[in-house]
Amino acid sequence: MQDPNQRFDIYALIHKALRAQMSHVLLEAGRTDWDDASERDAALSAVRQLLGMCHGHLEHEDTYLHPAIDAAEPGGRRLADSDHGRHLGAMETLYDLAEVVERATPSLRRQTGERLYRELALFVADNFEHMAFEEREHNRLLWMAYSDAEIHRIHGELVGSIPPAQMMETLRWMVPYSNAQQRTELLGGMLDAAPPGAFNAVMSMLQGTLRSQDMDKLTRSLLSRRAGEAQPIHPQAMPA
Ligand SMILES: [Fe+2]
Repeated sequence: MQDPNQRFDIYALIHKALRAQMSHVLLEAGRTDWDDASERDAALSAVRQLLGMCHGHLEHEDTYLHPAIDAAEPGGRRLADSDHGRHLGAMETLYDLAEVVERATPSLRRQTGERLYRELALFVADNFEHMAFEEREHNRLLWMAYSDAEIHRIHGELVGSIPPAQMMETLRWMVPYSNAQQRTELLGGMLDAAPPGAFNAVMSMLQGTLRSQDMDKLTRSLLSRRAGEAQPIHPQAMPA
């Protein structure tokens, strides 16, 4: 049996992106001054953006991954489907709460803002457990039933369905919070396959979000990769 550490992990990068965005938005909500209009607006906008990302991710998994998992083992998707149903309900609650905060009278702003923060914390906690389950159990089923080439094909179909703006938002979290090797593989793949304009747009966006030492390392590794000097690295690819 092939070493699981050498298999293609379809969840690795997107779950890092989601964990980063969820953690960031939760922490920001926790220190928001709900009486300050600009802080309140920024927090609510970040919460809504996060919910949009979560919704998109959930749909991608439902459409592209869960059928493959169910084909690998009938009923294999059941638990994740039930988690997704619960997450959809939680997202509706969070959207509603964001609106409640937005419309609250001054005397109720802090109270409703703190309620939103605590509900968001529960949502994030539930998602962290859910992602760990998917990484453990879904990968086990995928690796048992499919070759890496087949999983890459599923991944390619999923990634191909993501509109450019959503892809850019995903990369904004995925690249800074992946490790150096994953960044090189991801951006190297884009450099090879994406139109130069799209690649340059991603690199420009990263100028404002990637730590300078990470940008230096990425630039060096992409240059050496181009020159054919790159060492083989763990198989990670484009975002899911
Ligand atoms: Fe999921």
